[in-house]
Amino acid sequence: MKTKRLVLFASGSGSNVENIIHYFHNSTKVTIASVLTNKRDAKVIDKCNRLNINALYFNRNAFSKTDCVLDIVKALQPDLIVLAGFLWKIPRNLIQTYPNQIVNIHPALLPKYGGKGMYGMRVHKAVKANNETETGITIHYVNENYDEGAIIHQAKTILLPEDNVADIAQKIHKLEYEHFPKVIEKLLNE
Ligand code: GAR
Repeated sequence: MKTKRLVLFASGSGSNVENIIHYFHNSTKVTIASVLTNKRDAKVIDKCNRLNINALYFNRNAFSKTDCVLDIVKALQPDLIVLAGFLWKIPRNLIQTYPNQIVNIHPALLPKYGGKGMYGMRVHKAVKANNETETGITIHYVNENYDEGAIIHQAKTILLPEDNVADIAQKIHKLEYEHFPKVIEKLLNE
């Protein structure tokens, strides 16, 4: 059987990317075709260098105003495109070319704490400010609006009154590491 090809997009530290790479490291069924990033100095690039995974950087113009990134993605022949901490809105050309083939992870229980400007620590700060007693992760398909595509999977974690924003971030990352690769694997097997 042909190996399934994953293309990952990331903007930051890339700890989810690293976790996904490790998860599929010995797989004969899944290949990480490349990691694409919109940040020239993103830590995810160092991680890819260390792990011998292709990493490519693109700027705003290539992504949003031309077919340059689309053409690169097409050449990578992905079965699934995964946004793992990627912070730009996905342009229409990619969404139309890959309907229901782009998935995102959001660090909250959507539809709560989603939308433009809601990412990373900003989400956890808002969760803390509202004294939430639980939070979680949402893995969903990507459409043209931030955080609005169909939900594939959610997982929850309990919050204690003494949990600070860093504690919340840690609980969320733990959930992400546990669930995200398995959901990706399942989607690739459908
Ligand atoms: C993750 O928690 C992910 O859910 C979040 O960014 C973090 C990236 O961490 N994504 C968003 O907020 C998207 N709106 P990482 O770089 O360590 O994987």
